[in-house]
Amino acid sequence: MKLVDNKATLSFSNGSPSVEMPVYGGSIGPDVIDIRKLYAQTGMFTYDPGFLSTASCQSAITYIDGDKGELLYRGYPIEQLATQADYLDTCFLLLNGELPNEKERGDFHKLVTNHTMVNEQMQFFLRGFRRDAHPMAVLTGLIGALSAFYHDSTDINNPEHRRIAAIRLIAKMPTLVAMSYKYGVGQPYMYPRNELSYSGNFLRMMFGTPCEDYKVNPVLEKALDRIFILHADHEQNASTSTVRLCGSSGTNPFAAIAAGVACLWGPAHGGANEACLNMLEDIQRQGGVAKVGEFMEKVKDKNSGVKLMGFGHRVYKNYDPRAKLMQETCNEVLAELGLENDPLFKLAKELEKIALEDDYFVQRKLYPNVDFYSGIVQRAIGIPVSLFTGIFALARTVGWIAQLNEMLADPEYKIGRPRQLFTGSARRDVPATFKR
Ligand code: CMC
Repeated sequence: MKLVDNKATLSFSNGSPSVEMPVYGGSIGPDVIDIRKLYAQTGMFTYDPGFLSTASCQSAITYIDGDKGELLYRGYPIEQLATQADYLDTCFLLLNGELPNEKERGDFHKLVTNHTMVNEQMQFFLRGFRRDAHPMAVLTGLIGALSAFYHDSTDINNPEHRRIAAIRLIAKMPTLVAMSYKYGVGQPYMYPRNELSYSGNFLRMMFGTPCEDYKVNPVLEKALDRIFILHADHEQNASTSTVRLCGSSGTNPFAAIAAGVACLWGPAHGGANEACLNMLEDIQRQGGVAKVGEFMEKVKDKNSGVKLMGFGHRVYKNYDPRAKLMQETCNEVLAELGLENDPLFKLAKELEKIALEDDYFVQRKLYPNVDFYSGIVQRAIGIPVSLFTGIFALARTVGWIAQLNEMLADPEYKIGRPRQLFTGSARRDVPATFKR
C-alpha cells in the first residue's frame, strides 16, 4: 500500500482538536483511511459492526468489484480461470501469486496427489460420530483433528511447516469430505486414486464402491472442477476473516482452517447453498412455479422472516459473476444427465426472472449469488444436500490457507483484537446481603 496525495481530517463539534489521518491507496479499489492512531490521539474508537466500512488487512490475493460484478484471483478474471485453468492451477495461483508453467504445474499436481491419503487412524476417529451427524459437524471435527495427526506441520511460524500444512489440507480435504459421506451412508471408504484428476478422484471416492470399477464422467468432472474454482477464494468474507483472526493468535494452521469450516456452515454464508435447495424443494412441494408469486410476497414481507436464499450479497450489488458461470454449468450437467426438464431448475429460473424485475430486489440491488444454481448442479451430480457446504469448504480451503499465509508473512500483522462500545452496567457493588 502507498500513501496517496490526500489526508483525512476528523473534526469534532464539541471543540476537541481535529486530527489528521493518512490515506493509503491499493492497486485498484477504494483508498483506506489509516485510523490506527485514532485511539491514542482522541481516546475514541470507530464503531463498525459487520465491518461495513472497515478494511481489516491489506491483501494481494482476490479483488471483487461489487458494482461491476467482477471477481479477480491475483488479477485474473474468474471467467478466464473457469474456462482456461483447472482447480489445481487455481490453487497454485492463489498460493504463489502466478499461474504455473508446465514444469511447475506437473510438480504441483504430483505434490498434491502424493498427499491425498489420510492417516489410517482417522477412520477410527470418524467412527466416534453418529452416522446421522451433519457432515459439517463431522468436518469441523476432522479438520481440527488433523493437528493431532500431523504434528510435524503445526508450527505456524515455520514457513516449511506452513507449506506442508497447505499441501496436506488441499490434498486431504476431498478424502475427508468423501469419508464423511461414506460413513453417513454406511459404505466402505474408497482410497484415493492418484492417476485421476483432483475432481475425478473426488467423484470416485464419493460414488465408487470396491465392488466394481468407477468410470469418471468427464462432464461431471469438469462441472465439479468449476465449482471448486468458483469457490476457491472470495477475499475477506466471514470464514476467511475467521481463519485470519483465529490464526492471528499463533494457533496451528489446521485449527485455524477448522474455525473457517465452522463459520462457513452458517446459512448466511456457505450454508446458503443447502438452504437454497431446501427452499426450492419446499416451493416445489407446495405447488412449484404456480406458487412463486405467493412465495415472493412472503420474501418481501419483513415480518415473515423468509429470505430468497441464493440472492443478495454484501459486496456484489450486481450479478455475481460466479452465478453466471454456475448457470452455464447447470445447463451442461442437466443436459448430460438428461434432466433438462428438472423442475427445480425451472423453478429457480422463474424465481430469478421475477426477482430481477421486482422493485423490492431492484431497489436493494439483490441479484443471484453463486449459491443460487450450485445446489442444482450438485444435486444432479448426486451429492446429498447436507454435503453441499462441505463441498464449498473443500474448495475454499486453498483460499483460507493463502490468506492465512499472507497474513503471517505481513510485517504489520498483529493479533486481531477488536474493541467495543460498552453499554452494560457501570461499576457497582454486589449487595452486602448477597452472601452464600
Ligand atoms: N431475500 C430478501 N431480502 C433480502 C435478501 C434476500 N436474500 N438479501 C438481502 N435482503 C434485503 C434485506 O432485508 C435488507 O432490506 P432492508 O434494507 O429493507 O432492511 C437489504 O436487502 C440489504 O440486506 P442486508 O441483510 O443488509 O445485506 P447484508 O450485506 O448484511 O447481507 C447476505 C448479505 C448475503 C447475508 C444477505 O443478502 C442474505 O441473507 N442472502 C441470503 C443468503 C445467501 O444467499 N447467502 C450466500 C451469500 S454468497 C455465498 C457466500 O459468499 O457465502
